[in-house]
Amino acid sequence: MSLLLEISFISDTMISFNESNSALTNLMPLSISEDKNIAQAVALLKAGETVAFPTETVYGLGADASNPKAIQKIFEIKGRPSNHPLIVHIADASKLEVWADKIPEQAWLLAKKYWPGPLTLILPRKSNVPLEVTGGQETIGLRVPDHPIALALLQAFDGGVAAPSANRFGCISPTTAQHVKDGLGAAVGMILDGGPCRIGLESTIVSFINGEICLLRPGGLSLEQIEETLHQKLTKPNATHKVRAPGMLASHYSPKTPLSIIPIENLDTRAKELSSLGLNVAIIRLGETKKSFFKNGVTTIILPSIAFEYGHQLYATLHQLDHENYDHLLAEALPSTKEWLAVNDRISRAAHER
Ligand code: TXA
Ligand code: MG
Repeated sequence: MSLLLEISFISDTMISFNESNSALTNLMPLSISEDKNIAQAVALLKAGETVAFPTETVYGLGADASNPKAIQKIFEIKGRPSNHPLIVHIADASKLEVWADKIPEQAWLLAKKYWPGPLTLILPRKSNVPLEVTGGQETIGLRVPDHPIALALLQAFDGGVAAPSANRFGCISPTTAQHVKDGLGAAVGMILDGGPCRIGLESTIVSFINGEICLLRPGGLSLEQIEETLHQKLTKPNATHKVRAPGMLASHYSPKTPLSIIPIENLDTRAKELSSLGLNVAIIRLGETKKSFFKNGVTTIILPSIAFEYGHQLYATLHQLDHENYDHLLAEALPSTKEWLAVNDRISRAAHER
């Protein structure tokens, strides 16, 4: 079955969908209530199909977490190695016990305080959780996303939705429905459009395995908030965590165009060198508000020098620059203060040589 459907929340009633399984072109504006779209998404999930949906962090590519065949489709569509575990999205913290076992008090504390929100907890899996979801591991990642469409979908589905970011493996995560469509196209059963993601960077991942509380991935929820809530410092990932999270691979979240991070004092010289070789260069700099201009043969994009706002716009900017066919991107090196932890993590992986 293939039903391609888009919901535009620019206007509540303007919705487009296309029942042919060809590309998402010639979309017809229709008026369908939100409930009907959620019901269609639920029907697709129950039929073992995939549904891309918005969250507050990035768009997810969802499938029924209890259906190994449906999970298989996620790996195929993403081109992701099957031993990389998926996050299971649930409607609220009370569902934790359906999926996880031996849940420590501190994990409950975080779940109750920060869900719905940009936090993923890694816990021992319940024995009935399919190994396809956990990449063959004895642990499971769980999160309650903070987005009305995601929550409506999860409540109506009444089960767990396994969902990695809705992009090809290693590429930049999508922060709009258009990014999903551009990256995955007609391979996805349905795309629910909830507008641009509020945070724009993935969730923070905290692991509660082997009596240790470890930060596997910095993200939308700050490390300080977590440590303050738990009254303890989190550990750093070691060799045993390395293969567990593809988001921890040195090269990940990458634009197609090569990207280098350059200290501010060398930016102009580097840009000149590259453009004198005939290369088409774009620079991403820090400034007050987002703007872009073209001068001396080089495009400059200014992103806000507030970490949250920069993070919110980073992926969308990289997607846009990828479309504009530059030969090389240069990003001004960012401050190394704690507010910039998640942004620095993503941009350094994006810049890492593949
Ligand atoms: O914000 C997010 O977390 C988004 C939205 C869609 O929820 N999802 C997301 O999923 O970023 P994904 O698959 O692109 O990244 C999830 C990360 C991966 O690096 C994965 O390896 C790690 O979480 N992960 C999932 N389950 C795990 C587990 N059991 N143990 C260790 N890492 C796990
Ligand atoms: Mg991802």
